[in-house]
Amino acid sequence: MTEYDQKKMKQIAAEKAVTDYVKDGMTVGLGTGSTAYFAIKKIGELVQSGYKLKCVATSVASEELARECGIEIVDLNDITHIDVTIDGADEVDPKKQLIKGLGGALLREKIVASASMSEIIVVDESKLVENLGTKEPLPVEVLQFGHTKTAYALKRQGCEPVLRMKDGAPFVTDGGNYIYDCRFPEGIKTAFFLQSAIDSIPGVVECGLFLNIAEAVVVAHPDGSVTVMD
Ligand code: A5P
Repeated sequence: MTEYDQKKMKQIAAEKAVTDYVKDGMTVGLGTGSTAYFAIKKIGELVQSGYKLKCVATSVASEELARECGIEIVDLNDITHIDVTIDGADEVDPKKQLIKGLGGALLREKIVASASMSEIIVVDESKLVENLGTKEPLPVEVLQFGHTKTAYALKRQGCEPVLRMKDGAPFVTDGGNYIYDCRFPEGIKTAFFLQSAIDSIPGVVECGLFLNIAEAVVVAHPDGSVTVMD
């Protein structure tokens, strides 16, 4: 059996999801990241083949890629709903609960997911975990104003918040905010409780826990096979 590399697995999952879930005439949410990249490319192929699709992007980067692929981008304010969104994730647990945001687009991703009838997650097998927070930190987007105080409040939730940096300066999201990557030494035990505790901290804009949001998770495996958690 062939061993596919991780990039190829991302492509397999993304293309399978687009083929199975995107139908002509739909309004589609476009995710962000290296797996969503392949979904956007595949959606571009559908458009070139004659599909009439309207798309909403979850980041400036995805919007730019979509336009390059000839995909029509619409403003979320101008549409009533999104039929399906295809997006990546950083961790997926057995109940399809997610951590997202290592790519920095969690705020728009959650807004778009909430406006979607169906959120389809595409991942390679390495993203599967038994417990959230055991491999990756939890990204939390915060206002720049008073962010060290917000970080202190985050720390009281039992994590080690680290300000995300890029090129020697704090990373700034598409929304103009900072991100703290919060590592929980023993993983996240009570995700719903934690989400509501984090959401109630003044200065927090959005938390990277995506709970009860994924309708299905399309997982590609090293042998090239695909399974769907639904
Ligand atoms: C973007 O902010 C993230 O939520 C991505 O969806 C997530 O990081 C997955 O990215 P990759 O597909 O690049 O692993």
